[in-house]
Amino acid sequence: MEKIFRVFSLKHLLLVSIALNVSLILRVMNLSEKEILNSWSQEEELAKGHVSNNRHLSSSSSSSSSSFANTRIEAEDGGEKVINLDHVIAVAIIMLSLPGLTKTDFIDVMLLMFFFQCSGDPTMYEKYWQQVGDKTTIVIPGWQSLSYFSDVSNICWFLEPDFAKEVVRLHRVVGNAITENRHLVVGTGSTQLFQAALYALSPQDALEPISVVSAAPFYSSYPSITDCLKSGLYKWAGDAHSFKKDGPYIELVTSPNNPDGFVRQSVVNRSEGILVHDLAYYWPQYTSISFPADHDLMLFTVSKSTGHAGMRIGWALVKDTEVAKKMTKYIELNTIGVSKDSQLRAAKVLKVLSNSCEPNSSEGECFFEFNHRQMATRWKQLRMAVQKSGLFSVPEFPPQFCTFLGRDFKPQPAFAWLKCEQEEIDDCESFLRGKKILTRSGRHFGFSSKYVRISMLDRDQNYNLFVERLSNIIIS
Ligand SMILES: Cc1ncc(COP(=O)(O)O)c(C=O)c1O
Repeated sequence: MEKIFRVFSLKHLLLVSIALNVSLILRVMNLSEKEILNSWSQEEELAKGHVSNNRHLSSSSSSSSSSFANTRIEAEDGGEKVINLDHVIAVAIIMLSLPGLTKTDFIDVMLLMFFFQCSGDPTMYEKYWQQVGDKTTIVIPGWQSLSYFSDVSNICWFLEPDFAKEVVRLHRVVGNAITENRHLVVGTGSTQLFQAALYALSPQDALEPISVVSAAPFYSSYPSITDCLKSGLYKWAGDAHSFKKDGPYIELVTSPNNPDGFVRQSVVNRSEGILVHDLAYYWPQYTSISFPADHDLMLFTVSKSTGHAGMRIGWALVKDTEVAKKMTKYIELNTIGVSKDSQLRAAKVLKVLSNSCEPNSSEGECFFEFNHRQMATRWKQLRMAVQKSGLFSVPEFPPQFCTFLGRDFKPQPAFAWLKCEQEEIDDCESFLRGKKILTRSGRHFGFSSKYVRISMLDRDQNYNLFVERLSNIIIS
């Protein structure tokens, strides 16, 4: 991200802003691509004699409808369009007519817009929440949320009690983490909590910064977040597999892992190690819940659990009281607390989610069941595309029993860790860019450029076009 902003000037950002506004106007004025596709899907549903029932959520037919629509799109343009699912082509046409716009400006802006699209935004979840409708709507009167304080009796004094209650309830319903005898610290996304954890766990009086490591391939933001302020307290030290330095260190354990989806444990295993468990993806739509996680410091986020990345809410479950106090202090210094409005909205979303998954719920389909099925369909589509193409591979996972869903299943991660298998392709990202598919290279994850990371959480339309495009890349 940092690099991107260095490359793109203010002028480019202005152009993006114009482009996005034009896109918005187009949305309001015209029938969007989405609506057209929806109407195609509805036609197909009607042709099949399906009767829709708003009260019951169903995803089983959607993927076939979308792929029908996609086949039409691909057939119309012979697969030549850059995969565009958010009005980028329409914006491009308008932009080309802007006076004084050079070809280089145009390409830069288009690339920046695509960068945002391949960044792992969890827009797949819109479908569930749209069908839930008004149940998650909240109204906050103007006189509410004026005070900085939420609960002065709590170590985390800016934690909204309703949000805390719903977090504990959700973990009880899903069974993925122990909350008893833990302090709950809320953050502006788990990104802020990650930084609060580094601050709280670093020795304050050490002669040199403590090393921060994670096993490659690791979440690509860890190095840049750790080193962005060139802290005297902590310093990124790279791949945990090759970490040999004596003394204390902090190891980040992401499980299931971003980008490859594998369940993980710490790899350094030395007595002076301090562990931070990033459990952003330890939810039943992605992986089997085998046991309630019971680590010293665990990070969670609504971005990957409910899909509300824009709400910017995460939480930490912390065993040690002093660590919880220091994390709270960091957030106090950094942002004087966390948006109350966001916490209240998150509380409502979590409440509706838990209601939907309680046994004998009359609230429509359980959020996790619905999105588990979505992910299963997407992974099936991807594996078929990979097989048809013959040029790529994705990881194989063993099935495991899930205590929440009550059945065995194979992990279906939020990202696909795709490998270009052909010997002559060293840079899989450029190869796919040449096929008009934008991905993130394995290099960003401390790994080989033969790999790329692909978001599995995009909207149906985008995702279906991607698998269609991938399946048609064959040895020429
Ligand atoms: C492993 C991991 N941790 C944390 C985050 C960021 O979460 P948040 O949106 O809550 O800051 C991400 C986002 O991609 C992630 O993959």
